[in-house]
Amino acid sequence: MASALDRLTYAARQTARVAWYAGHYAAGRRLLKPMPKPDFPVGPTPSRDELTKDMRAVFEREWQDIKAGLLPVPRSLSFDPGEFLRRSVLYFRDLPQVDARRHGQSEELPPGEQGDGLPDYYRQNFHFQSDGWLSEHSAAIYDTQVEVLFTGAADVMRRRAMKPIAEWMVGRSQRHLAGLDVGCGTGRLLAFLHDAWPGMKFTGLDLSPPYLVEARRLIGRTARVKLIEGAAEKLPFDYASLDLVVSSFLMHELPETIRQQALAEMARVLKPDGLVVIVDSIQRGDQPSWNGLIDLFPHYFHEPYYAEYANGSVEAWGEAAGLKPIASERAFLSKIAAFNR
Ligand SMILES: C[S@@+](CC[C@H](N)C(=O)[O-])C[C@H]1O[C@@H](n2cnc3c(N)ncnc32)[C@H](O)[C@@H]1O
Repeated sequence: MASALDRLTYAARQTARVAWYAGHYAAGRRLLKPMPKPDFPVGPTPSRDELTKDMRAVFEREWQDIKAGLLPVPRSLSFDPGEFLRRSVLYFRDLPQVDARRHGQSEELPPGEQGDGLPDYYRQNFHFQSDGWLSEHSAAIYDTQVEVLFTGAADVMRRRAMKPIAEWMVGRSQRHLAGLDVGCGTGRLLAFLHDAWPGMKFTGLDLSPPYLVEARRLIGRTARVKLIEGAAEKLPFDYASLDLVVSSFLMHELPETIRQQALAEMARVLKPDGLVVIVDSIQRGDQPSWNGLIDLFPHYFHEPYYAEYANGSVEAWGEAAGLKPIASERAFLSKIAAFNR
């Protein structure tokens, strides 16, 4: 059961994270050259106050689930202040390159060789980030970039996937369960899942070898978490072989046909009583008074598939892939959609 000290530690840790990344966001805005104003219609956008309140409400919901004994108190994945600083320096050093790409002054493609098996849709500078998904440098600064974008709320949005998982877990023995994180990236959601259910076997799958190396570094050596190179649209698992499939912030990075194949693959590998949980950006209509954010996002960040993603529905795509939507939560700028078969 969570104690008063747990509450204090949780609040202090989350407040410090938000302050740290909000500081990066503010400093970054001053360093970046302003982008030209959008020349297309932009829907309504929330005020900064409204966004802050909404973000706080997500932390509060997580705390209530911790207090109710549904979720564990999340540990800080890195305690080392030197590590935070090192990543911060890397992030700021890289900003001028990101800015040049934002203003169309640089068009280099990520490293690697054509013909190495990686699909063309994948080999791009997503978010204008240096090296796309394809270098150690990119893997080392990705988490900072995402947390700056979400002002310290990226991890808590990922962790909201754990609520439907915890509810589904009731009456199940974790030692007999196998889970998969599709597009696990640097492994943050996997690390939280492994902390919460250390007896369960997890696999993290991603197309990027350097991101998998970063995930291993974060999670540590454990036979309970395997990390493998692979494609979401061709999962190397048998029909009905997994109990749990999760995926965070992958759907909006995929072209339509690949995304639908990936969802169909998740449905194929899931056991009949299994659970799929998808975390990704809100879509148009999830919070209509924020639709302008959805319009602006691909204008400021290189997100080739986001506009198409944002105009659809993860729930409907899941259904088309043979999954049944059972729960959904909007958590700040993300939504969490849970499905069974
Ligand atoms: C936006 S990141 C999300 C990473 C992580 N899940 C998170 O919560 O931060 C997208 C990740 O998906 C991976 N990815 C993109 N397309 C993929 C595909 N077709 N199959 C497997 N991984 C893919 C990328 O390498 C990258 O690590």
